[in-house]
Amino acid sequence: MTDQLTPVDRAKFAAAHCAADFVQDGMRVGLGTGSTAAWLVRRLGQRVRQEGLRIIAVPTSTRTSQLAREVGINVVSLDEARWLDLTIDGADEFDAELTLIKGGGGALLQEKIVATASDQMIVITDAAKEVATLGAFPLPVEVIPFGWQASKALVEEILASVDVMGRQSSLRMNGDRPYMTDEGNYILDLALGRIGNPRQLAMVLNQVPGVVENGLFVDIADQVVIGHADGKCETR
Ligand code: 5RP
Repeated sequence: MTDQLTPVDRAKFAAAHCAADFVQDGMRVGLGTGSTAAWLVRRLGQRVRQEGLRIIAVPTSTRTSQLAREVGINVVSLDEARWLDLTIDGADEFDAELTLIKGGGGALLQEKIVATASDQMIVITDAAKEVATLGAFPLPVEVIPFGWQASKALVEEILASVDVMGRQSSLRMNGDRPYMTDEGNYILDLALGRIGNPRQLAMVLNQVPGVVENGLFVDIADQVVIGHADGKCETR
């Protein structure tokens, strides 16, 4: 079945399938967003249908929610679940400390809320997303639409006071309109090149009026499952 996939997609598939084995009967599970997380959701749906696995799942986006329902997973809101045993989600970049950049798929806010409401977070990824220093991938920052240009200017201004290489930010677009998150917010993508101190940057960004959340996940992920194109995976 994976024959038609590109090597990167085969690696994502492998990571998702290995991580799905961490899910046990009766667990409350957070489901991430993105192409890697979609493989996970499909695999868990398979386990539900074939093995009778019983889970309660909290999706991190409308996309994931729709897919989870389609494959037969029991979906509830985070408020209904209250607390989760495990969240499994993709990432755009990760480093040796398991600090992540997330939000390439625009779901960083729900992803961060769900991951931090979980006993454990497992990241599923292909090997190419591992970096020595975060920042080559543009950092997503979710802002409310009201006064977004003022927020953007302030974000760029505060970048002068932290250890990053670039300071340009751009409004994420969807065709000729601003991309809109599930919460009705916009996303600024920050071209930083190099993030010297992710913890400091994450705190500083969230001080800017209008910023709802940023895509740096610091001290949230516990483990990473790295998939490879040959179907093998390694867990750290
Ligand atoms: C969505 C995310 C995704 O996990 C991230 O963008 C990785 O996506 P993919 O698995 O498609 O490479 O953070 O907001």
